[in-house]
Amino acid sequence: MSRPRILSGIQPTGIPHLGNYFGMMRPAIEMQASGDAYYFIADLHALTTVRDAAVLRRNVQAVAVDFLACGLDPSQCTFFRQSDVPEVTELTWILSTLTPMGLLERCHSFKDKIARGLSASHGLFSYPVLMAADILIYDSHLVPVGQDQKQHIEVTRDIAVKFNETYGGNFLRLPEPVIRENVATLPGLDGRKMSKSYNNTIEPFAEEKILRKRIMSITTDSTPLEEPKPIEGSTILALYRAVAPPADVAEMERQFCEGGTGYGEFKQRLFEAVVKFFRPMRERRAELIADREGVEAILKKGAAQARETARGVLMRVRDAVGL
Ligand code: AMP
Ligand code: TRP
Repeated sequence: MSRPRILSGIQPTGIPHLGNYFGMMRPAIEMQASGDAYYFIADLHALTTVRDAAVLRRNVQAVAVDFLACGLDPSQCTFFRQSDVPEVTELTWILSTLTPMGLLERCHSFKDKIARGLSASHGLFSYPVLMAADILIYDSHLVPVGQDQKQHIEVTRDIAVKFNETYGGNFLRLPEPVIRENVATLPGLDGRKMSKSYNNTIEPFAEEKILRKRIMSITTDSTPLEEPKPIEGSTILALYRAVAPPADVAEMERQFCEGGTGYGEFKQRLFEAVVKFFRPMRERRAELIADREGVEAILKKGAAQARETARGVLMRVRDAVGL
């Protein structure tokens, strides 16, 4: 496999936060040169939870702009909106006709979402079939995802095997997951996993005043200023490690152990490090925001390229099933 097809998607369910950047966007950007990368904004998937057109459009735009600002290079990869390749919904239907109910009933992500109080729509239930179509329609070799998505890749493989067995041929390529295990889960303001659903996120491109306010609101324990502070489980340090040079991290750790420095001072330093880390990207982002048409053109060009690949696979599938 000289140039593997790499494929990954991100749902536009909110404005990208530090967890999304370090957990998904940066690894995807790092991988873009190591194969024929297809990255898309999974707006059809987001419909299972976002029910406001203006919010969905805003989020799609934010993901596109932030991803490009952070270093996604459209000359190296194919970047597009999922819904601009309608072929994927046709493949979803065809696959759904041979996806066993039990396979979907076992999916953790569905069960977790129901447990969190989302209503059980058919779309939420069949979400992994759309994801399988996303992967299979581009003949993907490698799918980089977080641990939480691993089961969906297994479901994709099961569906592909079932299709190939049913129709007697190697019509669909079996993808391999690339699990990002070396990527730490970043904590949010309250110490739990940074997540939009906990409202504990830090958005790196927020206005600096707002960014500072968010960082200053990180929950800390009540160790007095002069006393040593616990390193273990510190949200400030976990975030600082992501954005600051190792020498600065070592210095902050030393001051934690030594005592004599308050959390306010550490938070201020974290704020400055976040601003510094994202400064070049913030500047690039401002240019992209001023050039909405340019961003749209990138997505459209990506979609045209992706569609061509998708049409080829869909033709193979239609032929195999007798359509
Ligand atoms: P989500 O919006 O939670 O589905 O996350 C989108 C992507 O960002 C997934 O690939 C996650 O692996 C990654 N991600 C989300 N939150 C975090 C976090 N707190 N730390 C690391 N990665 C995260
Ligand atoms: N379900 C993924 C998530 O929530 C997003 C996604 C949709 C995806 N389709 C995909 C990821 C295909 C990889 C491949 O993170």
